[in-house]
Amino acid sequence: MQKEAKNINAFRRLLLNWSKEKNTRQMPWKGEKNPYKIWISEIILQQTRVEQGLDYYKKFLDNFPTIQKLANSSDAKAYKIWEGLGYYSRCKNLLETARTVVKKHAGIFPTTYEEILKLKGVGPYTAAAIASFAYNLPHAVLDGNVFRVLSRFFGIAKAVDSTEGKKCFQQLSNELLDKKQPGIYNQAIMDFGAVVCKPVLPLCLQCSFKKHCKAYVSNSVALFPKKVKKIKIKTRWFYYLVIKYKTEFYIRQRTENDIWKNLHEFYLQEFDYEVASEEILKKVEKLNIVKKKNYKVVFVSPTQKQQLSHQKIFAKFITVEIFQKAKIPSMQLVSKKEITKLAFPKTINNYFLQYLAANKE
Ligand code: ADE
Repeated sequence: MQKEAKNINAFRRLLLNWSKEKNTRQMPWKGEKNPYKIWISEIILQQTRVEQGLDYYKKFLDNFPTIQKLANSSDAKAYKIWEGLGYYSRCKNLLETARTVVKKHAGIFPTTYEEILKLKGVGPYTAAAIASFAYNLPHAVLDGNVFRVLSRFFGIAKAVDSTEGKKCFQQLSNELLDKKQPGIYNQAIMDFGAVVCKPVLPLCLQCSFKKHCKAYVSNSVALFPKKVKKIKIKTRWFYYLVIKYKTEFYIRQRTENDIWKNLHEFYLQEFDYEVASEEILKKVEKLNIVKKKNYKVVFVSPTQKQQLSHQKIFAKFITVEIFQKAKIPSMQLVSKKEITKLAFPKTINNYFLQYLAANKE
Protein backbone atom coordinates (compact mmCIF):
# COMPACT_ATOMS: atom_id res chain seq x y z
CA MET A 1 0.00 0.00 0.00
CA GLN A 2 2.78 2.36 0.99
CA LYS A 3 4.68 1.46 -2.13
CA GLU A 4 1.60 2.22 -4.23
CA ALA A 5 1.17 5.62 -2.58
CA LYS A 6 4.79 6.36 -3.36
CA ASN A 7 4.26 5.48 -7.00
CA ILE A 8 1.21 7.68 -7.18
CA ASN A 9 3.13 10.63 -5.78
CA ALA A 10 6.07 9.90 -8.07
CA PHE A 11 3.85 9.81 -11.15
CA ARG A 12 2.10 13.07 -10.30
CA ARG A 13 5.40 14.82 -9.56
CA LEU A 14 7.08 13.51 -12.74
CA LEU A 15 4.12 14.50 -14.88
CA LEU A 16 3.81 18.03 -13.52
CA ASN A 17 7.58 18.53 -13.75
CA TRP A 18 7.60 17.29 -17.30
CA SER A 19 4.81 19.68 -18.19
CA LYS A 20 6.50 22.65 -16.54
CA GLU A 21 9.97 22.04 -17.92
CA LYS A 22 9.66 20.13 -21.17
CA ASN A 23 6.16 20.48 -22.55
CA THR A 24 6.46 22.79 -25.53
CA ARG A 25 3.23 21.71 -27.18
CA GLN A 26 1.28 24.78 -28.24
CA MET A 27 -2.39 24.76 -29.08
CA PRO A 28 -4.75 27.71 -29.38
CA TRP A 29 -7.15 26.36 -26.76
CA LYS A 30 -4.44 25.85 -24.12
CA GLY A 31 -5.08 28.03 -21.09
CA GLU A 32 -8.46 29.02 -22.56
CA LYS A 33 -11.06 29.74 -19.88
CA ASN A 34 -14.11 30.39 -22.02
CA PRO A 35 -16.23 27.20 -21.67
CA TYR A 36 -17.80 27.67 -25.09
CA LYS A 37 -14.41 27.68 -26.83
CA ILE A 38 -13.16 24.78 -24.72
CA TRP A 39 -16.29 22.82 -25.58
CA ILE A 40 -15.75 23.40 -29.31
CA SER A 41 -12.09 22.31 -29.08
CA GLU A 42 -12.92 19.18 -27.08
CA ILE A 43 -15.70 18.11 -29.45
CA ILE A 44 -13.34 18.55 -32.42
CA LEU A 45 -10.64 16.56 -30.60
CA GLN A 46 -12.97 13.68 -29.71
CA GLN A 47 -12.25 11.89 -32.96
CA THR A 48 -9.70 14.09 -34.66
CA ARG A 49 -5.95 14.54 -34.35
CA VAL A 50 -4.78 17.93 -33.07
CA GLU A 51 -2.97 18.78 -36.34
CA GLN A 52 -6.10 18.20 -38.39
CA GLY A 53 -8.34 19.93 -35.86
CA LEU A 54 -6.43 23.23 -35.67
CA ASP A 55 -7.80 24.82 -38.84
CA TYR A 56 -11.32 23.64 -38.12
CA TYR A 57 -11.19 25.09 -34.60
CA LYS A 58 -10.14 28.45 -36.00
CA LYS A 59 -12.67 28.39 -38.83
CA PHE A 60 -15.49 27.34 -36.50
CA LEU A 61 -14.79 30.14 -34.02
CA ASP A 62 -14.26 32.74 -36.77
CA ASN A 63 -17.74 31.93 -38.02
CA PHE A 64 -19.34 31.33 -34.63
CA PRO A 65 -17.48 33.41 -32.03
CA THR A 66 -20.25 32.96 -29.47
CA ILE A 67 -22.75 30.26 -28.57
CA GLN A 68 -25.52 32.64 -29.70
CA LYS A 69 -23.99 32.87 -33.19
CA LEU A 70 -23.80 29.09 -33.40
CA ALA A 71 -27.37 28.67 -32.19
CA ASN A 72 -28.58 31.09 -34.88
CA SER A 73 -26.69 29.42 -37.74
CA SER A 74 -28.39 27.39 -40.42
CA ASP A 75 -27.61 23.66 -40.33
CA ALA A 76 -26.18 23.85 -43.86
CA LYS A 77 -23.62 26.52 -42.91
CA ALA A 78 -22.39 24.61 -39.85
CA TYR A 79 -22.10 21.34 -41.80
CA LYS A 80 -20.20 23.11 -44.58
CA ILE A 81 -17.66 24.32 -42.02
CA TRP A 82 -17.45 20.84 -40.50
CA GLU A 83 -17.10 19.22 -43.94
CA GLY A 84 -14.12 16.85 -44.12
CA LEU A 85 -13.77 16.41 -40.35
CA GLY A 86 -15.89 13.24 -40.17
CA TYR A 87 -18.20 11.97 -37.41
CA TYR A 88 -20.88 14.44 -38.44
CA SER A 89 -23.16 13.70 -35.49
CA ARG A 90 -20.72 15.93 -33.59
CA CYS A 91 -21.86 18.89 -35.68
CA LYS A 92 -25.52 18.01 -35.21
CA ASN A 93 -25.05 17.79 -31.43
CA LEU A 94 -23.16 21.10 -31.32
CA LEU A 95 -26.05 22.86 -33.06
CA GLU A 96 -28.63 21.21 -30.85
CA THR A 97 -26.75 21.97 -27.63
CA ALA A 98 -26.06 25.59 -28.61
CA ARG A 99 -29.76 26.10 -29.30
CA THR A 100 -30.76 24.49 -25.98
CA VAL A 101 -28.26 26.57 -23.98
CA VAL A 102 -29.48 29.79 -25.63
CA LYS A 103 -33.19 29.01 -25.34
CA LYS A 104 -33.35 27.28 -21.97
CA HIS A 105 -30.32 28.63 -20.07
CA ALA A 106 -30.17 32.24 -21.28
CA GLY A 107 -27.03 31.44 -23.27
CA ILE A 108 -25.01 30.62 -20.14
CA PHE A 109 -22.86 27.52 -20.48
CA PRO A 110 -23.38 25.03 -17.60
CA THR A 111 -20.92 25.39 -14.74
CA THR A 112 -20.92 21.98 -13.02
CA TYR A 113 -19.57 18.61 -14.20
CA GLU A 114 -23.02 16.99 -13.86
CA GLU A 115 -24.73 19.68 -15.94
CA ILE A 116 -21.98 19.64 -18.59
CA LEU A 117 -22.31 15.85 -18.81
CA LYS A 118 -26.01 16.24 -19.66
CA LEU A 119 -25.17 18.09 -22.91
CA LYS A 120 -25.69 16.11 -26.07
CA GLY A 121 -22.47 14.69 -27.46
CA VAL A 122 -20.60 15.19 -24.18
CA GLY A 123 -19.36 12.06 -22.39
CA PRO A 124 -17.38 11.73 -19.14
CA TYR A 125 -14.05 12.53 -20.83
CA THR A 126 -15.22 15.73 -22.48
CA ALA A 127 -17.15 16.83 -19.38
CA ALA A 128 -14.04 16.32 -17.21
CA ALA A 129 -11.91 18.27 -19.70
CA ILE A 130 -14.35 21.22 -19.86
CA ALA A 131 -15.01 21.25 -16.09
CA SER A 132 -11.31 21.18 -15.23
CA PHE A 133 -10.10 23.63 -17.91
CA ALA A 134 -12.87 26.20 -17.55
CA TYR A 135 -13.69 25.99 -13.82
CA ASN A 136 -10.76 24.09 -12.30
CA LEU A 137 -13.13 21.39 -11.03
CA PRO A 138 -11.48 18.14 -9.84
CA HIS A 139 -12.49 15.65 -12.53
CA ALA A 140 -9.85 13.41 -14.09
CA VAL A 141 -9.87 12.75 -17.84
CA LEU A 142 -9.69 9.15 -18.99
CA ASP A 143 -9.25 8.31 -22.66
CA GLY A 144 -6.99 6.25 -24.90
CA ASN A 145 -4.00 8.46 -24.06
CA VAL A 146 -4.49 8.10 -20.33
CA PHE A 147 -5.08 4.33 -20.54
CA ARG A 148 -1.82 3.97 -22.42
CA VAL A 149 0.27 6.16 -20.11
CA LEU A 150 -1.07 4.63 -16.90
CA SER A 151 -1.03 1.01 -18.10
CA ARG A 152 2.63 1.39 -19.05
CA PHE A 153 3.83 3.34 -16.03
CA PHE A 154 2.02 1.17 -13.46
CA GLY A 155 2.32 -2.05 -15.52
CA ILE A 156 -1.44 -2.67 -15.38
CA ALA A 157 -2.38 -5.78 -17.37
CA LYS A 158 -6.16 -5.32 -17.06
CA ALA A 159 -7.86 -4.87 -20.43
CA VAL A 160 -8.78 -1.23 -21.00
CA ASP A 161 -11.93 -2.27 -22.88
CA SER A 162 -13.27 -4.44 -20.05
CA THR A 163 -15.64 -3.16 -17.35
CA GLU A 164 -13.21 -4.17 -14.64
CA GLY A 165 -10.29 -2.51 -16.44
CA LYS A 166 -12.18 0.74 -16.96
CA LYS A 167 -13.16 0.87 -13.30
CA CYS A 168 -9.59 0.27 -12.17
CA PHE A 169 -8.18 2.98 -14.47
CA GLN A 170 -10.88 5.45 -13.46
CA GLN A 171 -10.09 4.92 -9.79
CA LEU A 172 -6.38 5.33 -10.37
CA SER A 173 -6.94 8.46 -12.49
CA ASN A 174 -9.04 10.02 -9.72
CA GLU A 175 -6.32 9.31 -7.18
CA LEU A 176 -3.60 10.69 -9.38
CA LEU A 177 -5.38 13.93 -10.24
CA ASP A 178 -3.82 16.98 -8.66
CA LYS A 179 -6.91 18.40 -6.95
CA LYS A 180 -5.32 21.83 -6.59
CA GLN A 181 -4.68 22.21 -10.31
CA PRO A 182 -6.89 19.69 -12.16
CA GLY A 183 -6.84 21.67 -15.42
CA ILE A 184 -3.06 21.75 -15.56
CA TYR A 185 -2.81 18.08 -14.56
CA ASN A 186 -5.36 16.95 -17.20
CA GLN A 187 -3.70 18.96 -19.95
CA ALA A 188 -0.31 17.56 -18.90
CA ILE A 189 -1.38 13.90 -19.13
CA MET A 190 -3.04 14.48 -22.53
CA ASP A 191 0.09 16.16 -23.86
CA PHE A 192 2.43 13.58 -22.36
CA GLY A 193 0.47 10.74 -24.01
CA ALA A 194 0.48 12.55 -27.35
CA VAL A 195 4.09 13.73 -27.38
CA VAL A 196 6.18 11.22 -25.36
CA CYS A 197 4.22 8.09 -24.40
CA LYS A 198 2.92 7.65 -27.95
CA PRO A 199 1.12 4.54 -29.23
CA VAL A 200 3.97 3.62 -31.56
CA LEU A 201 7.59 4.68 -31.24
CA PRO A 202 7.25 6.22 -27.78
CA LEU A 203 10.22 8.39 -26.76
CA CYS A 204 11.30 6.11 -23.91
CA LEU A 205 14.99 6.93 -24.08
CA GLN A 206 14.42 10.61 -23.40
CA CYS A 207 11.56 10.01 -20.98
CA SER A 208 12.03 11.32 -17.47
CA PHE A 209 9.66 8.62 -16.14
CA LYS A 210 11.67 5.68 -17.39
CA LYS A 211 13.32 4.62 -14.13
CA HIS A 212 9.89 4.28 -12.52
CA CYS A 213 7.97 2.96 -15.54
CA LYS A 214 7.06 -0.72 -15.01
CA ALA A 215 6.68 -1.41 -18.73
CA TYR A 216 10.01 0.21 -19.60
CA VAL A 217 11.90 -1.51 -16.80
CA SER A 218 10.50 -4.89 -17.86
CA ASN A 219 11.15 -4.15 -21.54
CA SER A 220 7.48 -4.56 -22.45
CA VAL A 221 6.28 -1.09 -23.47
CA ALA A 222 4.80 -2.37 -26.73
CA LEU A 223 2.60 -4.85 -24.83
CA PHE A 224 0.60 -2.08 -23.13
CA PRO A 225 -2.25 -1.21 -23.04
CA LYS A 226 -3.92 -4.64 -23.12
CA LYS A 227 -7.21 -5.09 -24.96
CA VAL A 228 -9.78 -7.89 -25.11
CA LYS A 229 -11.38 -7.13 -28.44
CA LYS A 230 -9.77 -6.66 -31.78
CA ILE A 231 -11.39 -3.96 -33.90
CA LYS A 232 -13.07 -5.47 -36.93
CA ILE A 233 -12.77 -3.37 -40.06
CA LYS A 234 -15.73 -3.55 -42.40
CA THR A 235 -15.21 -3.06 -46.14
CA ARG A 236 -17.95 -1.33 -48.17
CA TRP A 237 -18.16 -0.67 -51.88
CA PHE A 238 -20.01 2.52 -52.83
CA TYR A 239 -21.02 2.90 -56.46
CA TYR A 240 -22.21 6.41 -57.15
CA LEU A 241 -24.24 7.10 -60.22
CA VAL A 242 -23.62 10.78 -60.87
CA ILE A 243 -26.63 11.80 -62.88
CA LYS A 244 -26.20 15.06 -64.72
CA TYR A 245 -28.82 17.00 -66.62
CA LYS A 246 -27.25 19.87 -68.60
CA THR A 247 -25.12 21.57 -65.92
CA GLU A 248 -27.07 20.34 -62.94
CA PHE A 249 -26.65 17.25 -60.72
CA TYR A 250 -29.08 14.95 -58.95
CA ILE A 251 -28.22 14.71 -55.28
CA ARG A 252 -29.78 13.64 -52.00
CA GLN A 253 -29.17 14.12 -48.30
CA ARG A 254 -28.12 11.07 -46.28
CA THR A 255 -30.67 10.55 -43.54
CA GLU A 256 -29.96 7.01 -42.38
CA ASN A 257 -28.15 6.31 -39.10
CA ASP A 258 -24.90 5.58 -40.83
CA ILE A 259 -21.63 7.30 -41.64
CA TRP A 260 -21.98 10.76 -43.23
CA LYS A 261 -25.49 11.30 -41.87
CA ASN A 262 -26.88 14.68 -43.04
CA LEU A 263 -24.19 15.13 -45.70
CA HIS A 264 -25.15 15.01 -49.38
CA GLU A 265 -24.39 12.47 -52.07
CA PHE A 266 -25.27 11.17 -55.53
CA TYR A 267 -27.47 8.19 -56.28
CA LEU A 268 -25.85 5.29 -54.44
CA GLN A 269 -25.74 1.52 -54.86
CA GLU A 270 -23.83 -0.20 -52.09
CA PHE A 271 -22.26 -3.68 -52.05
CA ASP A 272 -19.93 -5.55 -49.76
CA TYR A 273 -17.88 -6.74 -52.72
CA GLU A 274 -16.48 -5.28 -55.92
CA VAL A 275 -18.85 -4.97 -58.89
CA ALA A 276 -18.14 -4.02 -62.53
CA SER A 277 -19.49 -0.64 -63.72
CA GLU A 278 -21.53 -2.42 -66.42
CA GLU A 279 -23.35 -4.37 -63.74
CA ILE A 280 -24.17 -1.17 -61.88
CA LEU A 281 -25.58 0.36 -65.06
CA LYS A 282 -27.69 -2.74 -65.73
CA LYS A 283 -29.04 -2.57 -62.21
CA VAL A 284 -29.96 1.12 -62.28
CA GLU A 285 -31.69 0.64 -65.63
CA LYS A 286 -33.68 -2.21 -64.17
CA LEU A 287 -34.63 -0.04 -61.20
CA ASN A 288 -35.72 2.68 -63.64
CA ILE A 289 -33.34 5.22 -62.14
CA VAL A 290 -32.18 6.01 -65.67
CA LYS A 291 -33.73 4.83 -68.90
CA LYS A 292 -31.57 3.13 -71.53
CA LYS A 293 -32.36 5.58 -74.30
CA ASN A 294 -32.15 8.62 -72.10
CA TYR A 295 -28.51 8.59 -71.00
CA LYS A 296 -24.90 8.23 -71.98
CA VAL A 297 -21.91 7.47 -69.77
CA VAL A 298 -19.46 10.36 -69.79
CA PHE A 299 -16.94 9.51 -67.10
CA VAL A 300 -15.98 6.52 -64.96
CA SER A 301 -13.64 7.41 -62.14
CA PRO A 302 -10.88 5.22 -60.77
CA THR A 303 -11.81 3.52 -57.49
CA GLN A 304 -11.07 5.73 -54.50
CA LYS A 305 -10.29 4.43 -51.06
CA GLN A 306 -11.19 6.18 -47.83
CA GLN A 307 -10.10 4.67 -44.55
CA LEU A 308 -12.32 5.46 -41.57
CA SER A 309 -11.62 4.18 -38.08
CA HIS A 310 -13.78 1.04 -38.40
CA GLN A 311 -14.58 0.97 -42.08
CA LYS A 312 -12.79 0.90 -45.38
CA ILE A 313 -14.77 2.59 -48.13
CA PHE A 314 -14.12 1.96 -51.81
CA ALA A 315 -15.98 4.45 -53.98
CA LYS A 316 -16.42 4.57 -57.73
CA PHE A 317 -18.25 7.27 -59.67
CA ILE A 318 -20.07 6.59 -62.90
CA THR A 319 -21.11 9.87 -64.42
CA VAL A 320 -24.00 9.82 -66.85
CA GLU A 321 -25.74 12.61 -68.70
CA ILE A 322 -29.45 12.34 -69.25
CA PHE A 323 -31.05 13.97 -72.26
CA GLN A 324 -34.46 14.63 -70.82
CA LYS A 325 -35.14 15.88 -67.35
CA ALA A 326 -36.54 13.11 -65.14
CA LYS A 327 -38.08 12.72 -61.70
CA ILE A 328 -35.88 10.40 -59.67
CA PRO A 329 -37.29 9.30 -56.30
CA SER A 330 -35.68 11.10 -53.33
CA MET A 331 -33.19 12.92 -55.56
CA GLN A 332 -33.20 16.63 -56.25
CA LEU A 333 -31.67 18.44 -59.18
CA VAL A 334 -29.30 21.21 -58.10
CA SER A 335 -26.94 23.64 -59.79
CA LYS A 336 -23.18 23.64 -59.30
CA LYS A 337 -23.46 26.88 -57.36
CA GLU A 338 -25.92 25.36 -54.90
CA ILE A 339 -23.67 22.33 -54.59
CA THR A 340 -20.76 24.45 -53.36
CA LYS A 341 -22.84 25.52 -50.35
CA LEU A 342 -23.67 21.97 -49.28
CA ALA A 343 -21.51 19.55 -47.33
CA PHE A 344 -20.34 16.30 -48.97
CA PRO A 345 -18.12 13.41 -47.81
CA LYS A 346 -14.44 13.79 -48.66
CA THR A 347 -14.57 11.06 -51.28
CA ILE A 348 -17.28 12.97 -53.20
CA ASN A 349 -15.34 16.22 -53.05
CA ASN A 350 -12.35 14.34 -54.48
CA TYR A 351 -14.57 13.16 -57.28
CA PHE A 352 -15.61 16.76 -58.05
CA LEU A 353 -11.95 17.74 -58.30
CA GLN A 354 -11.17 14.84 -60.65
CA TYR A 355 -14.25 15.41 -62.74
CA LEU A 356 -13.70 19.13 -63.08
CA ALA A 357 -10.03 18.60 -63.99
CA ALA A 358 -10.98 16.06 -66.66
CA ASN A 359 -13.74 18.25 -68.06
CA LYS A 360 -12.14 21.68 -67.70
CA GLU A 361 -15.45 23.11 -66.57
N1 ADE B 1 -7.32 15.77 -26.79
C1 ADE B 1 -8.50 16.06 -26.26
N2 ADE B 1 -8.47 17.23 -25.60
C2 ADE B 1 -7.23 17.70 -25.74
C3 ADE B 1 -6.59 18.87 -25.32
N3 ADE B 1 -7.22 19.79 -24.59
N4 ADE B 1 -5.31 19.01 -25.64
C4 ADE B 1 -4.69 18.08 -26.35
N5 ADE B 1 -5.23 16.96 -26.79
C5 ADE B 1 -6.50 16.77 -26.48
